[in-house]
Amino acid sequence: METLLDFMWVKILDQAPKEGTMIEVIVENRNLLITLNQGELYCVDNRCPHEDIKLTLGCLKGNRIKCSLHGFSFDLSTGDSAQVDVDNLRVYPAKQENNKIFINI
Ligand code: FES
Repeated sequence: METLLDFMWVKILDQAPKEGTMIEVIVENRNLLITLNQGELYCVDNRCPHEDIKLTLGCLKGNRIKCSLHGFSFDLSTGDSAQVDVDNLRVYPAKQENNKIFINI
C-alpha cells in the first residue's frame, strides 16, 4: 500500500553520480547538489548557508562538503555546520532504485 510519502519522491537522475563527484540539479526551482560519497548518496542545497555561493564549487572532505569561499564545511548527512554563527545546510532524503536517483523534497 502506497502512502503519501511515496508520492513525494521525485526522479532527478537516470543514473547515480560517479563516486566523489558532485552534480548540480534544478528541481522545482531549487538548486540542489547530488553526490555519491564513500558509497552513500546525498542530496543537499547547492547554496552555502554562510553566503550565497554554490557548494558544487567546493570539495568533499570525508563525510563533509567544504565551501570554496571561506572554507566552512557541512556534514552531508545532517547538514551540521559545526559553526555557531553559520546555519546548517539543508539536506534531503535521496535513494537509488533501478539505477535511478530519487529525492524527497
Ligand atoms: S560562503 Fe561558504 S563558507 Fe562562506
